[in-house]
Amino acid sequence: MPAQILDGKKIAAEVRAEVKEEVSRLKAEGINPGLAVVLVGEDPASQVYVRNKHRACEEVGIYSEVHRLPAATSQAELLKLIDKLNKDPKIHGILVQLPLPDHIDEKKVIDAIALEKDVDGFSPANVGNLVIGDKCFYPCTPHGCMVLLEKAGIDPKGKKAVVVGRSNIVGKPVAMMLLARHATVTICHSRTRDLAAECRQADILIAAVGKPELITGDMIKEGAVVIDVGINRVGEKKLVGDVHFESAAQKAGWITPVPGGVGPMTIAMLLKNTVEAARR
Ligand code: GUN
Repeated sequence: MPAQILDGKKIAAEVRAEVKEEVSRLKAEGINPGLAVVLVGEDPASQVYVRNKHRACEEVGIYSEVHRLPAATSQAELLKLIDKLNKDPKIHGILVQLPLPDHIDEKKVIDAIALEKDVDGFSPANVGNLVIGDKCFYPCTPHGCMVLLEKAGIDPKGKKAVVVGRSNIVGKPVAMMLLARHATVTICHSRTRDLAAECRQADILIAAVGKPELITGDMIKEGAVVIDVGINRVGEKKLVGDVHFESAAQKAGWITPVPGGVGPMTIAMLLKNTVEAARR
């Protein structure tokens, strides 16, 4: 039987509606949640992401300011801006859009963001807290994956979860989140000996590797939940995930589409983290 669709667009709209209500409650208490987004340079994809983040904030009533800096901005200038935003009481969350130009040390910049404003959840201290199960911000994309599972009524407890990809932004944190929810977790990567055999074990399969349609239907266990984090541009217009949707949907119980799966969840979770930062 073909898989049920895990509709990220619909679920993200539900999350945004919940956030909007929470923003109203906060405002009634005199707290006006604020997000600062910093974009350095003119990367076209980043420009689109930043515009969408700003729009999403406006829609739910979060104050948002976008700092667009030229590509030639020095690291010192960027660090100075972050220091200013760290001290700005209007701003509860700071997001520096990645990637940064080559002359800027990404790690130094992320480290400079105050822990309580790190709504992206990328700082080493936040990641450390995530690993030990302490209070932290869940990075937005993996958090979105977990909310998709939750909304589909899928409890990871006792299930075999396989994460394909070991990035700091998705693979590693989502593995930790699944572990915290009592799944048995395997992380696969480019050196994994038999990726297909590992994937076939998965009750929950998270693909976050950035390789178009790497995961095919024959690699999927009957009835598995398949979450596809990949967004790969093929040719001029077509976007595909890391999963070959048509074949995978014949085997999976649930599957996310690309686009319209994990993508819309990322911004929704950013809004949620910003509101949480303001609430704290
Ligand atoms: N670039 C691509 N995805 C992200 C993200 O989630 N956060 C930031 N800051 N930059 C990104």
